Amino acid sequence: MSETTAAQTGQQAPARRGAAYDSAFLRACRREPVPHTPVWFMRQAGRSLPEYLKIREGIPMLESCMRPELVKEITLQPVRRHKVDAAIFFSDIVVPLKAVGIDVDIKPGIGPVIADPIRTREDLQRLRPLEPDDVPYITEAIGLLVAELGSTPLIGFAGAPYTLASYLVEGGPSKNHERTKAMMYGEPELWAELVDRLADITAGFLKVQIEAGVSAVQLFDSWVGSLAPDDYRRSVMPASTKVFDAVASYGVPRIHFGVGTGELLGLMGQAGADVVGVDWRVPLHEAARRVGPGKALQGNLDPAVLFAPTSVIETKAREVLHSACAIGESGHIFNLGHGVTPGMDPDALSRLVAFVHENSQR
Ligand code: CP3
Repeated sequence: MSETTAAQTGQQAPARRGAAYDSAFLRACRREPVPHTPVWFMRQAGRSLPEYLKIREGIPMLESCMRPELVKEITLQPVRRHKVDAAIFFSDIVVPLKAVGIDVDIKPGIGPVIADPIRTREDLQRLRPLEPDDVPYITEAIGLLVAELGSTPLIGFAGAPYTLASYLVEGGPSKNHERTKAMMYGEPELWAELVDRLADITAGFLKVQIEAGVSAVQLFDSWVGSLAPDDYRRSVMPASTKVFDAVASYGVPRIHFGVGTGELLGLMGQAGADVVGVDWRVPLHEAARRVGPGKALQGNLDPAVLFAPTSVIETKAREVLHSACAIGESGHIFNLGHGVTPGMDPDALSRLVAFVHENSQR
């Protein structure tokens, strides 16, 4: 008998019981009791680590994402060093765009730059759905990683339609997202088709990662906090919901994160997340109220706190743990309110992991 995947049958399958199934991280995602609060860091792999800078020497960012052995090593570096409760797959949100043929590069110190921005109906033709054959190196790297990680879960990820659209329409990083919003407000039909096509690419990218063995996925809508709730609901949420729906049947936890999203937390949960990521601007007990019952929360220490003395880091970390009590007995994943930044002291991060573990024993 041939194997049928949960996605093919279209049924709500129980979560896959891989070696990581009973890890503190996956248990917290499912809001089950945990021995200690699990902790990992967004952007834990990368320029804060000397071993990362060394291994990446001379290899452009996007090329490094296409080398499975290198991806495996970079993904494992922070797990070995910090003893975090989960690994995040080393890749980038623009990798699937490159894979479907968009001319994109990641410029050091700048970020993703698009050679030909997407601004007209004709431009949309360049955004075709992503097929597994477009990213064989992703499947291979995840296979290597899952074998090596054992009971440590691997988190897959993708960029959400709004955040990807902002890079594609602006042509690169942007402060005010003016061209993006001009299209959203001024050409709503073109916009709707753009984010719908991006939802298909993103869903395709997440499916490849889940089929290859990741045990949770995070949808990064990093820049969506620039929108008012009504605009989010009308112009963005349908596309994000399409992504979450497309992977629901696999039964792996789905995390949804953005920066400056205090006013959007409830809607971001409703879009289909099992876990809502919270930045540092809203305390977790208030975030729990805004998100409502039935969802785990991830966050939310201000990354800048890592630059303060150890005693301050510990006081602030304790405050996060205390605020998380409002979520209930379980259902909290400790993280920063945004990613690790290049100048951060790796030892401070390692100490923080140990501190969270010690101070959240059940
Ligand atoms: O979290 C991890 O450790 C996994 C790896 C990861 C990267 N990018 C590697 C990376 C993840 C999860 C991302 C997601 C990503 N990429 C997001 C969403 C997360 C967030 O921070 O909000 C966004 C917006 C991007 C786009 C992007 N790629 C930016 C803004 C940059 C930084 C540009 C710069 O040089 O300042 C990148 C490049 C990038 N992606 C780096 C890494 C480690 C740095 C590249 C390098 O080492 O030169």
